[in-house]
Amino acid sequence: MESASKSDKARLEINGKTYELPLIYGTENEIGIDISTLRSQTGAVTVDIGYKNTGSTTSSITYLDGEKGILRHRGYSIEDLAENATFLEVAYLLINGKLPNAQEYSDWDNQIRNHTLVNEDMQNIFKAWPTGSHPMGQLTALISSLSSFYPDSLDPYRDVDDQHRTIRRLIAKMPTIVAMLMKKAKGHPLIYPSNNLDYVSNFLNMTFKNVTEDYEIDPVFVEAMNKLLILHADHEQNCSASTVRIVGSSHSNLYACISAGIAALWGPLHGGANQKVIEMLEAIKEDGGDVTKYILKAKDKDDPFRLMGFGHRVYKNYDPRARIIKKSCDDILNKLGVQDPILNIAKELEETALADDYFVERKLFPNVDFYSGIIYRAMGFPVEMFTVLFALGRLPGWIAQWQEMRDENQPIGRPRQIYVGEVNREFVPMQNR
Ligand code: ACO
Repeated sequence: MESASKSDKARLEINGKTYELPLIYGTENEIGIDISTLRSQTGAVTVDIGYKNTGSTTSSITYLDGEKGILRHRGYSIEDLAENATFLEVAYLLINGKLPNAQEYSDWDNQIRNHTLVNEDMQNIFKAWPTGSHPMGQLTALISSLSSFYPDSLDPYRDVDDQHRTIRRLIAKMPTIVAMLMKKAKGHPLIYPSNNLDYVSNFLNMTFKNVTEDYEIDPVFVEAMNKLLILHADHEQNCSASTVRIVGSSHSNLYACISAGIAALWGPLHGGANQKVIEMLEAIKEDGGDVTKYILKAKDKDDPFRLMGFGHRVYKNYDPRARIIKKSCDDILNKLGVQDPILNIAKELEETALADDYFVERKLFPNVDFYSGIIYRAMGFPVEMFTVLFALGRLPGWIAQWQEMRDENQPIGRPRQIYVGEVNREFVPMQNR
């Protein structure tokens, strides 16, 4: 490839023949090689297992520079948004591309408040699940089931107003569904939405209020939850966002796409890490708190143990979200008067890892999941709910990614492969094998 300043084309030589491929520049000067004509020109395809070097789309939603530790949504830094915005404001920004003015925000907020109830029949679904089944599995099923309750969503290319209604329904009903999961897990009666409350307060009320008692919404909880939701709101083409886009590219309905995104998020290498971090920190505590022993395990290639909440596909510098959460973690625990010994273990683990050549050479830093669970735990969420809370925050990002794919009418996602199996073989009847 020639230097970007000299050429707008990359040159590729295959078996002695040279081909030119256009370069694409992003607004932050990122360079992509447009290989959309590669196969028709050359007969070759690219191979990039895990898509480590593949740009699946151009996008104007989120910018991330993993080397510098920068994250911006629609041009606004994550630090500014986490400090100054509400989660609903960030959701509006991601989905509509601009910050709302006061009137737009009030309209948006009202539209969300007016869609918070879920169909009573949804509760029947819970009867089929064995007690103790994981809430992430339940969440995928409940979100997918919304397509049965709202058949007007089934064709996402039919009517744009239908789709806007589907988006509002999803954002409005997700907290209700998440709170239902908490209540049903405990066998407690549901708390219905209160449309006089803001988005985060309503969620906390449905989750923590007990029908037999008054519940006062703690502003510290509201601030913490708001910040955590914002910090999870989008992260460009990660595993779950790419899943949402690829499922949507077959023109599946939005509920099905989000359900698929939740399934992708569940894995411990992605959003499921927040549950695994707390389980790891607990295990270290139970084992006497010897952090060095676990650092050695993480470095041992014969040991499957990995430091959960550490490392990231794109951040090769401190994850800016982790920096904000780490600070909030201290603040919130102080304000709540909670002393959690696993916070000290987490800090010691981080300090030891960041001074260790293995982690330094591989540029492994704490990611968004490393400290978030400690806050969720201090607020009273059970560990199985942590990834569900991640999904609640990520919802507007998934929607924005899906919408961008839909509005650009992107073709169905269908990667190629290089076949390495058996070549043509003659079938041999069973009695002759
Ligand atoms: N502990 C120990 N070693 C690690 C860790 C870790 N957490 N993460 C990466 N490494 C090592 C790998 O063993 C590898 O070493 P090698 O070069 O000697 O083989 C090197 O660092 C590169 O790691 P890869 O797995 O190749 O990096 P990849 O980009 O594929 O994986 C991932 C990124 C999945 C996040 C990985 O760092 C990991 O498993 N972390 C723990 C799980 C986690 O916290 N996931 C949440 C990510 S944030 C999010 O999704 C919201």
